Amino acid sequence: MASSSSSSSTPFPKWQIAVGVGAASAIGLSYWYLKSGRSPLFNSIFRGTSQETNDIQSGTKSEADETPFERAQKFKAEGNALFKNGKYDEAIQSYNKAIAICPPEQANDLSTFFQNRAAAYEQLKKWSAVITDCSKAIELNPKYEKALYRRAKAREIIKDWENCLDDVTCVCLLQNFQNQSALLMADRVLKELGKAHAQEAMKTRKIIMPSKNFIKTYFSSFSEDPVGQMLLEVGQPLGQGELKGFLKAKLAFATEKYEEIVPSCTEEINSSESDSAYIAESLSLRASFYFLCGQFAEAVEDLTTIIENEDYDYKIRVNALIKRASIYMQTEKLEECLNDYETAVELGPNISDVFHHRGQVKLLMDKTDEAREDFQKAVTLNPNFPIAYVQKLYSDYRYALQKQDVGLLMENMDNFRKAIDKFPDCSESYVLFAQVLTERQNFEEANDMYEKALKLNPDNASIFVHNGLLLLQWKNDIEGSVRLMRKAIDLDKKCEFAYETLGTVEVQRGNLILAIELFNKAIELARSEMEMTHLFSLRDAATSQLKVTTSLGITTPLGGM
Ligand SMILES: *[C@@H]1O[C@H](CO)[C@@H](O)[C@H](O)[C@H]1NC(C)=O
Ligand SMILES: *[C@@H]1O[C@H](CO)[C@@H](O)[C@H](O)[C@H]1NC(C)=O
Ligand SMILES: *[C@@H]1O[C@H](CO)[C@@H](O)[C@H](O)[C@H]1NC(C)=O
Ligand SMILES: *[C@@H]1O[C@H](CO)[C@@H](O)[C@H](O)[C@H]1NC(C)=O
Repeated sequence: MASSSSSSSTPFPKWQIAVGVGAASAIGLSYWYLKSGRSPLFNSIFRGTSQETNDIQSGTKSEADETPFERAQKFKAEGNALFKNGKYDEAIQSYNKAIAICPPEQANDLSTFFQNRAAAYEQLKKWSAVITDCSKAIELNPKYEKALYRRAKAREIIKDWENCLDDVTCVCLLQNFQNQSALLMADRVLKELGKAHAQEAMKTRKIIMPSKNFIKTYFSSFSEDPVGQMLLEVGQPLGQGELKGFLKAKLAFATEKYEEIVPSCTEEINSSESDSAYIAESLSLRASFYFLCGQFAEAVEDLTTIIENEDYDYKIRVNALIKRASIYMQTEKLEECLNDYETAVELGPNISDVFHHRGQVKLLMDKTDEAREDFQKAVTLNPNFPIAYVQKLYSDYRYALQKQDVGLLMENMDNFRKAIDKFPDCSESYVLFAQVLTERQNFEEANDMYEKALKLNPDNASIFVHNGLLLLQWKNDIEGSVRLMRKAIDLDKKCEFAYETLGTVEVQRGNLILAIELFNKAIELARSEMEMTHLFSLRDAATSQLKVTTSLGITTPLGGM
């Protein structure tokens, strides 16, 4: 269970989610939920439906006495023997005869003959013949696992992902999600299909401004961003008369008119290029909003302009490097990402944000030792930044876990409690500690932590989602969990995390149509191709399950985990 929600409950904000980390298990999430939601009812539906291809021994009657069915079985046995000796063409000839003579009312046997001929075609790599024969076998026997699996394999080879997925989903359902190779195939196919759908959808993606909370969380993840600090300064007079350019953008930020920010920054950047006081600031702010809206190419362009201009304040340049690194991370350019951090370390060896953000990347790359070093450095440089402080503790926790060192684990728990005393106003401490407590199965205290975090930030949707996940794990309280996740959506209609997580819960309780709707909602809000790929994989898994269960006339399993 601990790894089940590995991607959605990662302790770091969405924009930090790494390439490939936990991707395999994340993609299988829908499957996983369904698998663990298996109930006796589900088992009984399928008991004894599996189809055997075992040879049916033909008798010793003389040919004249044989019925056509008996002769068909004889041809089949002959085909099987030839198949075993690697004589596939000859085996096909025998199966041809078996099929030709077999009475149509012997549907099960006839379907076996087709399936066996498909196996011979498979050996000859004649994929379209494999698919045709499997289809005939399945038509005669819709729950014929072997034929479904063989057709899935052929369809995977010819990259017919969509149909392949339906076949392999069917096999997974029929085998109660016990068949490892089928599950792995499902994961592979979902990944391919998700990627294809995401690439399509990115072309027509609508630009959506994220919610206020999301924007605030983003800016608060930097402790030494001079532009972010200017935005938060209140009381500084903005000047007289109608504001223009960067100052107008600043006012727009303060009054949450986020749509005005990019145009105002552009106004500043385009106006008096030589003597404007706020070019670097405007480029940085515009880049942040391009990024927040998922316009990565535009953001990289502005950040690069900042990075390459040695006249700009080095703190703004270091911050631009961190922001560009984070975009590279999300576009699966790991090398460029790490290069930007190298440059940032050279340029700003005293800036804690560099180490804090690189620590997150290292943690996601499973380089726990390097992550700890980075976090330690960040905390040394800036001991009063709570987010880096508790994330360091989280990396210590991962380290203690790796070393299986109980003493270190206990010490780590103590340190978390001290951190909460030290930074009682930082919801991040409570939420991270709650996740550690959840992993340690200390559910009650974890729940306390979420409640405290919610007291501090009653309108933070993502805390409600985390708390909902806890209820699921702790008490298998699906109703309670759904209630909290619904609440998150009420608070923040743009909370992708809530739609995604609730979607997986709805898959688990068999509400596939609702789940698909929720995944679609999350897809609309996704900002990167990587996020979309993951979400499409979840949605496609649910869609396929819906199709297959409907066509097989079964219901999805009820009940809990
Ligand atoms: C998975 O299912 C297929 C089709 O029934 C079967 O041929 C294969 O042996 C199974 N594999 C495992 C590992 O159970
Ligand atoms: C919301 O809570 C999360 C913890 O889940 C925290 O990281 C984030 O900073 C919070 N956002 C705001 C705006 O308080
Ligand atoms: C700002 O300048 C850029 C480059 O010089 C140009 O492409 C763009 O159209 C200008 N935008 C506005 C709003 O003037
Ligand atoms: C970093 O901080 C140390 C100690 O405060 C100082 O001596 C050094 O000059 C600083 N380096 C930079 C590049 O700011």
